[in-house]
Amino acid sequence: MANFDIQLTVNGRQVSQSVSPHLRLLDFLREELHWTGSKEGCGAGECGSCSVFVDGVLMKSCLMPVAKAQDTIIETIEGLEEQGKLNVLQQAFQKTGASQCGYCIPGMMMAATAALRANPHAGREEIKERLGGNICRCTGYQKIFEATELARDVMNGTLPDDLLKQENDEGPFIGSNSFRIDTSSKVTGSLKYAGDMVMPQMLHMQVLRSPYPHAEILEINTSAAEAMAGVEAVVTCNDVPGIDGFGVFTDDQPVLARGKVRYVGEAIAAVAAEDLVTAKEALKKIKVRYQQLPVITKPEDAIKTGATVIHEDVPDNIVMHIPIRKGNVDKVMAESDHVIEDTYYTQPVEHAYLEPEAGLAYLDADGTLVIQSPSQNITHHRHKLAKILDLPINRVRMIMSAVGGGFGGKEDMHYQGIMALAVLKCRRPIRYVFTREESIIASAKRHPFIIKYQLGLSRDGHIQASRIHMLSDAGAYNCSSEGVMRKAAILAAGPYAIENLIVDAIGVYTNNTPSGAMRTFGAMQSQFATECHLDLCAEKLKMDPVELRLMNFLKEGDETHTRQKLGSVSMLEVFNSALELADWEAGISNSRGSTRSDLGNPGNRPPCTLGAREFPQETVSAGQSA
Ligand code: FES
Ligand code: FES
Repeated sequence: MANFDIQLTVNGRQVSQSVSPHLRLLDFLREELHWTGSKEGCGAGECGSCSVFVDGVLMKSCLMPVAKAQDTIIETIEGLEEQGKLNVLQQAFQKTGASQCGYCIPGMMMAATAALRANPHAGREEIKERLGGNICRCTGYQKIFEATELARDVMNGTLPDDLLKQENDEGPFIGSNSFRIDTSSKVTGSLKYAGDMVMPQMLHMQVLRSPYPHAEILEINTSAAEAMAGVEAVVTCNDVPGIDGFGVFTDDQPVLARGKVRYVGEAIAAVAAEDLVTAKEALKKIKVRYQQLPVITKPEDAIKTGATVIHEDVPDNIVMHIPIRKGNVDKVMAESDHVIEDTYYTQPVEHAYLEPEAGLAYLDADGTLVIQSPSQNITHHRHKLAKILDLPINRVRMIMSAVGGGFGGKEDMHYQGIMALAVLKCRRPIRYVFTREESIIASAKRHPFIIKYQLGLSRDGHIQASRIHMLSDAGAYNCSSEGVMRKAAILAAGPYAIENLIVDAIGVYTNNTPSGAMRTFGAMQSQFATECHLDLCAEKLKMDPVELRLMNFLKEGDETHTRQKLGSVSMLEVFNSALELADWEAGISNSRGSTRSDLGNPGNRPPCTLGAREFPQETVSAGQSA
């Protein structure tokens, strides 16, 4: 489609330019005008990180064709500063610590500005409602609401503006609000994430991914893609000069599929082209012939005799088995007054960091390969890359760009190796930015577990023996599974003193998306099962669940099930404080009356209700939340 001429005003500047009509307003602002403050989190109107004002109306620029912006006035995050200084709202975000990774913050700032423009006296509920189209994965929202309320009160003159200043210029900092040094770059949109970076002569990369969970690759034909105008290079596993493998614990994953694909979304080939459209078109021209193989989707099936083997060098499909043995479980379990067992399941969880994976790779002036990406493990990645590329370590440089949320998911080197191969082939800079869909398909997830829990207890509730069998789906590649199994096993019994215990934590290969690091690294799954099971035991023994726990807690001088002798143990203090803050109502779980007194009190959450939230048009006075 032919270009058209557009005239509009962006952040007070008149713009007149020839543009392609297929562009979205977000693309036009970011790629053509280089106003990169507005971010793409989802590209589907869900996250709000791309929010801008169009003729004063808050809009999601990822949903708006640029043609509709003809003759409009656009304001982006970069236009909010006043006379080169942070405006009141920006200062309030800085003061309250309302930005963490910062990726959502430009959109949040625009939505909060819209809220206060619409109602300068908006109360907490209205602010929440007006910011409801924006997602933040880091802050928990409270600080963002606090910041908006603080700005509201300062703008209305009901609070003094010196409240926006930092409390302490010098220590002590504990207990006071300290400015994070990077906040001003986040509230102005000036911080560059990898997907915001550009270089002269830069190419764009796209990756062909497997549609099958398990298949042999019979042939990859890239000739038609390579012949396309605008295509600079196509890379496959044949371009790997060194040792082809990466991972966190074992290097079992090839940079690009070698002979076989093991999950839907596995990278097979990549195209580097002059522009994104050409790179996407070229992917369609790569022809791959597959021979589909039997698929394993359940970890239970992976360990059956005769199960399909996913990695030829691991015939039993077991990635890692951590066994722990203590005491005599069989004997003590048989002698226990109560033996209570159940099975607990946890699911895979997507990290959903707001910044999708992205990177910029290039050769430095001295020929050193440089990769800028939001990697959470740069030293490790550097060593892996040097081996893969067969380069001395000093010819590989990793620069950690601003991380727009990681939560463990950016520890894996899923794409940096592909970028490196393409740069070495083209000798030009290359940028690669995942779409949200690609991020979900290709990135590792939290490990799902099946946990069989058996406890032997005395009549009065003392735990005497425990048998815990944990089977986890590691997915197609190891990633962090070894470490996750270790942590899950170490924390399997919870904070309880248990003399007789058997733990088995077993991670197995399947043809599912790989499982990897995610907040708590295996601990959450263990704790979920342990604490659910203790609640169940308390119910069966007709005991207060708190009493059951207090009776079994580890104390100073005890030995854990991994033989760690405990010096100081402060958990009783923590537990008692939690009970006090929660207004815990003692008693047997299912006999505490129809209305529990530990819900709905000041400082506690109200019980859940279903239905539309009320939206009161409240007004507030100085420093007071409605
Ligand atoms: S709403 Fe536009 S990028 Fe998410
Ligand atoms: S600070 Fe909001 S997504 Fe990270």
